[in-house]
Amino acid sequence: MGAGRKFMTRVISVTNLKGGSAKSTTTFNLAGVLLEAGYRVLCIDIDPQKTLGEAFFGIQANNKTLSAALINDGLLGSAIHATQFEGLYILPADDGLKSIKSGQTLIEGGELRLRSCLTRLKNQPDPMLGLKPFDWVLIDCPPSLDRLTMNALVASDYVLIPVDPGAGGRGALGDTIEYVTSAQKWYNPTLKIIGLLISNTDTRTVYDQSVVEVVREMYGDLVCKTVVNASVRVRESSEAQTPLVFCKGNEYSRYAAMYRNVWQELAQRVGQLHG
Ligand SMILES: Nc1ncnc2c1ncn2[C@@H]1O[C@H](COP(=O)(O)OP(=O)(O)OP(=O)(O)O)[C@@H](O)[C@H]1O
Ligand SMILES: [Mg+2]
Repeated sequence: MGAGRKFMTRVISVTNLKGGSAKSTTTFNLAGVLLEAGYRVLCIDIDPQKTLGEAFFGIQANNKTLSAALINDGLLGSAIHATQFEGLYILPADDGLKSIKSGQTLIEGGELRLRSCLTRLKNQPDPMLGLKPFDWVLIDCPPSLDRLTMNALVASDYVLIPVDPGAGGRGALGDTIEYVTSAQKWYNPTLKIIGLLISNTDTRTVYDQSVVEVVREMYGDLVCKTVVNASVRVRESSEAQTPLVFCKGNEYSRYAAMYRNVWQELAQRVGQLHG
């Protein structure tokens, strides 16, 4: 699959208030699909739990950190690490993010800092990163509607919401969409929800089928047609620090295909949203 026409850097936040709703897993696997499609990709882990950077990519922050760049309105370049996948980069989370999240570190214009840092990176690509701009930036958000999530939403063109369709997950979904609406209203009027992605669900069970139906009735076309089924293969791929599309073995190919289908749908929506 070729990337086709390249375009300016676009930013997607992957967010949901609900913990464990597959935000990090979605970010990790979508990054793999985008890389496979020929794009240059930067993942930003803005969750102090450090799941995406440390656990999934196996990369820790060094002395140049995301939190320092946010606090000082500095350069992101030296805090970005290459991964073992050429063209795929990670900006890992660090402990300093906790004090930004709690409000302990007060920053003037605090919600706007990531956008400011990313705008600088887009306009002056870093020599350490090959001076080429990124095609896509994916931001993995924490499971909270706090200043870190708002920074991500303010810096983004699109929001992707992985959904746990069960009762608790649906409540959190409403709150998450409300938070996106306030980001649009106060900071980022062009921000668009690109889709709700039902994830980690077993559609062979009657219960999961019925709760998926409820989400589709509530949110209509906003919900992606593709559902990412629950499987140990998905967990194994993250454990092996290898996005599904790069996992060897037929047992992974079904799940890799699900994420490729997700991207097909999202790519169409991006076209539609700009059309
Ligand atoms: N399709 C799937 N099949 C099986 N397990 C999955 C699937 N998607 C995610 N998981 C597992 O569910 C758990 C939560 O996933 P993940 O860490 O991606 O969620 P999260 O929303 O980022 O969590 P948090 O809110 O803590 O950041 C992980 O153990 C992950 O491996
Ligand atoms: Mg996570």
